[in-house]
Amino acid sequence: MATPTRIAVVTGSNRGLGYAIARKLAQKGIRVILTSRNETDGVKAKQQLAGEGLDVDYHVLNVTDDTSVQDFTIWLRETYGSVDILVNNAGVNPTTQPEESSLLTVQLATMQATFETNVLAVVRICQALIPLMQVNNYGRIVNVSTEMAALATINHDYYPLAPSYRLSKVGVNAITAILAKELQGTNILVNAYSPGWMKTDMGGENAPFTAEEGAETAVYLATLPDGGFQGQFFAEMRKFGGPFTLQW
Ligand SMILES: NC(=O)c1ccc[n+]([C@@H]2O[C@H](COP(=O)([O-])OP(=O)(O)OC[C@H]3O[C@@H](n4cnc5c(N)ncnc54)[C@H](OP(=O)(O)O)[C@@H]3O)[C@@H](O)[C@H]2O)c1
Repeated sequence: MATPTRIAVVTGSNRGLGYAIARKLAQKGIRVILTSRNETDGVKAKQQLAGEGLDVDYHVLNVTDDTSVQDFTIWLRETYGSVDILVNNAGVNPTTQPEESSLLTVQLATMQATFETNVLAVVRICQALIPLMQVNNYGRIVNVSTEMAALATINHDYYPLAPSYRLSKVGVNAITAILAKELQGTNILVNAYSPGWMKTDMGGENAPFTAEEGAETAVYLATLPDGGFQGQFFAEMRKFGGPFTLQW
């Protein structure tokens, strides 16, 4: 029997890492649904991929908006009936704000806004889309995190303190572990990974790696074989020449 064409949703895929992941998945013949909160930006990204001969689908999706997620889920169910791959990539990072350099000065409003996008929205999207994976008992969920969120090294000197961002990604890691526990025994595999410091709007010009390099591990985790890794936290593969798990 021929392998079915997999259907993948990538949140925040109009630019940066999400765009690079969408592009790489499409290059593998996966049916990608590129999503963005701003329709103009998303359509532009879809056209850019079309210019490379990559035909992706597009739908607007604001991960912090209940109605947007509901509308998207209804559209997805009616158009495809199920979904195979979910990359929770959309994220914000308020690290450039001066008060983000200390837990003693961080604005709780900033922290709340960061949690809305980086943590609660991941739960919202998982609640909406996992039922569409359960239809075929097949799913690969990739949560984009950062090694800066590893509790094992969170007090080391070589990272900025960045309390809102790092706490939010600790939340992403915890979601990954809890979901994996809940999905144990199913063919829905959920893992988190750190893409490394990349040249994107978030990462800035001085970052050593490109978004394309950061996307490699996401694609690996999005296409894990049945019985593959479940509930793990990965470093970017290029650093280690293959999959490498981090301590939470
Ligand atoms: N860059 C790095 O060095 C680095 C390192 C480790 C981890 N990460 C993680 O990698 C992921 C992607 O980061 P990036 O570097 O590509 O950042 P980016 O260039 O700033 O892109 C962020 C993406 O998230 C989208 N987004 C934000 N809020 C959204 C919402 N409510 N609904 C839908 N989309 C939303 C943005 O959409 P708009 O265009 O509409 O704003 C944009 O597409 C994030 O989770 C980030 O934490 C990045």
